[in-house]
Amino acid sequence: MSIYLDHASTTPLRREALEAMLPYLSEHWGNPSSIHHSGRRARQGLDEARESVAMLLGAKPREIVFTSGGTESDNLAISGVAWAASARGRHIVTTAIEHKAVLQECALLGRHGFDVTYVGVDGDGLVDPEAVAAAINERTVLVSVMAANNEVGTVQPVAEIGSICRARRVAFHVDAVQAAPFLPIDVNAWQADVVSISGHKLYGPKGIGALFVRQGTAMVPLLQGGAQERQRRAGTENVAAAVGLATAFALAADEAMLTAESSRLSGLRDALLAGLTVIPGVHRTGHATQRLPNSASVVIDGIEGGDLVAALDLEGIEASTGSACTTGSVEPSHVLLAMGIDAERARGSLRLTLGRENTEADVVATIDAVERGVARLRAAAPAREPAEAPAAMSAAPSV
Ligand SMILES: Cc1ncc(COP(=O)(O)O)c(C=O)c1O
Repeated sequence: MSIYLDHASTTPLRREALEAMLPYLSEHWGNPSSIHHSGRRARQGLDEARESVAMLLGAKPREIVFTSGGTESDNLAISGVAWAASARGRHIVTTAIEHKAVLQECALLGRHGFDVTYVGVDGDGLVDPEAVAAAINERTVLVSVMAANNEVGTVQPVAEIGSICRARRVAFHVDAVQAAPFLPIDVNAWQADVVSISGHKLYGPKGIGALFVRQGTAMVPLLQGGAQERQRRAGTENVAAAVGLATAFALAADEAMLTAESSRLSGLRDALLAGLTVIPGVHRTGHATQRLPNSASVVIDGIEGGDLVAALDLEGIEASTGSACTTGSVEPSHVLLAMGIDAERARGSLRLTLGRENTEADVVATIDAVERGVARLRAAAPAREPAEAPAAMSAAPSV
């Protein structure tokens, strides 16, 4: 039996989403841009999916652009908005702990004449809205801050940051890819102009995402070609995947509203963190309370996170060291470094992200397996001394 604890990396496709998709992979295979019957039938599915996603975000259907996933949504948000506003100014504000889909796109713009300010975070991975306000200048055209971090689960004060951006008349992008399965998203309460979500993080299919683009927000497309998605994203739409995303998102939003399910998950998370941090040399990363209900992350002295993940896998427990995208890279996580955790300690990171199918028994088995795994790895590498208490637990450093 395996215990899957890597839901921040991806989630299984839920049955309801699969069933909603199947007709669009079989009988309703038309091109939604065609005006004949087959095309109109596919268009109907796409329109309904768009309406549903819009409703869940507090948006209008015309404000939703379907993309190939969270990465494309982030890339399009950053470059699309920045280039469209580039005559007014070429300065972007983001944070040091964003997903690489945001950071790399900002770096690309940096090579094309934009200035990028990376706001730091405190030891819990929290962004200070005042630091964002201080970073905005008269040339700033875009601020991008994630709603919740994918490695440590810290939830950011996006509504506060949104109101600062609105007052300064700067477009505000929120990467809500990790937050969408758990937090109610209201683009108006957040005062966000652009918001990214991804299907496979919320029990929908892979390769589909959505981008909310507030009406009136200028954006140049990344993909050129046909006039699909109101000329904001060329290419024949993936109708079945859009239907799957909309179905899964609606069910996730329903579950997030159910306090019983949310508190079940946070109860499991807290039990997991409590059990892990009694193991000597294991320290929580991320905020104690302002964190996603499913996210438990730690750093463990004297071990390599990758070795522990491999050891857990042998016991049927699937976890990760940080974000899936950085797994396999020798670089320590940029998120943990930005939180002031030193590079040596950051190598011992473990991320456990719970999901709908996890139980209390999974938590107990996992704590036990981590304890055994850590003891074995430490015994095999006695030369590595446990480091001192993590800086992130005490100080509030930033990048
Ligand atoms: C916060 C965040 N943004 C963006 C992405 C990219 O999403 P996708 O895998 O759909 O491209 C991820 C995926 O890990 C993420 O966690």
